[in-house]
Amino acid sequence: ADEPLVLGIETSCDETGVGIVRGTTLLADAVASSVNDHARFGGVVPEIASRAHLEAMVPTIQRALDTAGIKASDLDGISVTAGPGLAGALLVGVSAAKAYAWALDKPLYGVNHLASHICVDQLEHGRLPEPTMALLVSGGHSSLLLTADITTDVRPLGATIDDAAGEAFDKVARVLGLGFPGGPVVDRRAREGDRKAIHFPRGLTGPKDPEFDFSFSGLKTAVARWVEAKRRAGEEVPVADVAASFQEAVTDVLTRKAVKACQQHGVDHLMIGGGVAANSRLRAMAEQRCERAGIRLRVPRPGLCTDNGAMVAALGAEMVWRNRAPSALDLSADSSLPL
Ligand code: KG4
Ligand code: ZN
Repeated sequence: ADEPLVLGIETSCDETGVGIVRGTTLLADAVASSVNDHARFGGVVPEIASRAHLEAMVPTIQRALDTAGIKASDLDGISVTAGPGLAGALLVGVSAAKAYAWALDKPLYGVNHLASHICVDQLEHGRLPEPTMALLVSGGHSSLLLTADITTDVRPLGATIDDAAGEAFDKVARVLGLGFPGGPVVDRRAREGDRKAIHFPRGLTGPKDPEFDFSFSGLKTAVARWVEAKRRAGEEVPVADVAASFQEAVTDVLTRKAVKACQQHGVDHLMIGGGVAANSRLRAMAEQRCERAGIRLRVPRPGLCTDNGAMVAALGAEMVWRNRAPSALDLSADSSLPL
C-alpha cells in the first residue's frame, strides 16, 4: 500500500507548526513562531501564544499545502497535538484540526506531544527500531521514555522533579544577561569557555537517588549564587566559563542516566529529542558515551528537535500505517495528557 499522506498541527507552546509527510518522508514543515513576542517577558505568556496561534493557523496550513504541492483532499488523515501543553494554545490547534477533518471528511488523530518528539526522528533516519530509549529534553520536559510501540506504548521511566533541562538553560541565560530563549546563546557562549572551570552540582546522582529522575533547580541556584558572589566581590563574571561549566553539568547527568537506562532495560538504541537536543555539547557527549557502551544513537537535526508540525504529522502517519483508531470529533485538548 502507499505510505499515508498526513497533515499535522502543533500548537502546544509558542510555535504554530504545520507539517505534511508521506509515511516517513517530509514534504513540508511550516512554522510561525511567537517567540519574539515573549522575549521581553523572559518566558512564554500563554495568552499571547494563543492569540498568535489563532492569527497564524490558517496561513500556516496554506503555506504547508503549497510547499508540499498537494491538495487537502488528497490527505489520508489530519493529526494534531492534543497535549500536554498550554491549554489555550492547544485548543487553537485542536479546533483547527477538527474543522479541517470535518470539512474534508478525513480521519482525525489526536496525538501526544512527547511521542511526536520521538517519532520525528523517522523523517531523518527511517523507521524507529522498537524498543528505543528516548531522552526528551525541552523547555517543558526532561524525561526518559522506553518506547516499545510509538503509537501505543511509550513508558516513562523517569522525569524531572523540578525544572526541565531547557528551563534551566533559560534561567541561567537570564542570570548571565544573555536573553531568551537561553539554550542557543548558552550553547554558543560555552564554545569559548572552559567546561572544567567551575564544578557545579549534578542533581540526583547519589547512590540513594531515583535512578532515572532529574533535578535541575539546585544546579540553577548554584549557578546564580556563584555569579552573585562574583558580582558582589566586584569581579568580572567569566560568562563563557560559567556557560560551559553549567552546560557540562546538565549534559553529564542527562547522558549518564540515558545510557544507564538503555543498559538496564537491554535497549541498544537511544534517541534524543526536544529543543535541548539541539545542544552541541549534549550531542558530542552522547555520541562518545553511546559509542563506548555499544548503543546506536539517533538525534534528529536541530530544526526537527524544536517544536514543529512535521513531528505531529510523522506520528499521525504512523497511526494510519498501523491502523490505529482515529479520534472522535469531540476530541479535546488536555494540558496534562499522559502517555
Ligand atoms: O522543544 P522545544 O522547542 O519547546 C518545548 O516543548 O519546550 O524546546 C525549547 C527549549 C528552550 O528551553 C530552549 O532554551 C532549549 O529548548 N534549547 C536549547 C538549545 N536550543 C534550544 N538548549 C540548549 N542548547 C541548545 N542549543
Ligand atoms: Zn516540545
